[in-house]
Amino acid sequence: MNYILMGPPGAGKGTQAKKIVEKFGIVHLSTGDMFREAKKSDEDIRKFLVSGRLVPDEIVVNMVKKRLEKDDIKKGFLLDGFPRTVNQAQELDKMLKSENIKIDAVFFIDVHFEEAVKRISGRRVCSCGASYHVNFIPPKVKGKCDVCNGELIQRSDDKENVVKDRLDVYKKQTSPLIDYYKKTGLFVNIDGLKSESEVFKEIKKYIEAK
Ligand code: AP5
Ligand code: MG
Repeated sequence: MNYILMGPPGAGKGTQAKKIVEKFGIVHLSTGDMFREAKKSDEDIRKFLVSGRLVPDEIVVNMVKKRLEKDDIKKGFLLDGFPRTVNQAQELDKMLKSENIKIDAVFFIDVHFEEAVKRISGRRVCSCGASYHVNFIPPKVKGKCDVCNGELIQRSDDKENVVKDRLDVYKKQTSPLIDYYKKTGLFVNIDGLKSESEVFKEIKKYIEAK
């Protein structure tokens, strides 16, 4: 059971990824999460993230390659935020071919940019990894994490000026992947405008039917 989760920034990839890996017992591989961890000690990575630009393909590909060499991925994995360029997708194809691993589906969480901006601007996260939305998925106590009672903050790349650049980057560099995966027959369009639980229901239904 190996899947790719795609969609514009703020579509709900991370939100759905958490539910999918919990339900199906597979590994969550989020390049965004890996880079947010790396940026604490790597100034170059930090610069890419705070500006909303993509980290160069070579760095991303090597990082994913190393991660896919670990034993735990044998139970299945979900790629969240990777690949993000056609070149990354081609490199992933090579990696998977050499390890004889197959992708079962590419889920595309379909939301328009206006909705993505609404979701990003209201997102609040906790250092424990939990994520909320001030209106759509609020915590029980304002500003506090339901899981660990930690303080909720806004991601540095969720500030208005960076969000526009992230959406531009997505349009130019990532959206060509839609056609790339449509050609493989693995592409599954998911209506991302529905509620968190309805979106999950749709993905779950697809996985369970296979
Ligand atoms: P990354 O962390 O992958 O960011 P992203 O793609 O911009 O996506 P987000 O994490 O912002 O959104 P999401 O789709 O996960 O939405 P979420 O579930 O949080 O990447 C960050 C940076 O790392 C990049 O800019 C780049 O610099 C670098 N990077 C990462 N991967 C790379 C790669 N492969 N190559 C090069 N560079 C790379 O939900 C958003 C909000 O909406 C939340 O508040 C949530 O509560 C809410 N929400 C979710 N679902 C719903 C719903 N159905 N209804 C209402 N609200 C909802
Ligand atoms: Mg995310």
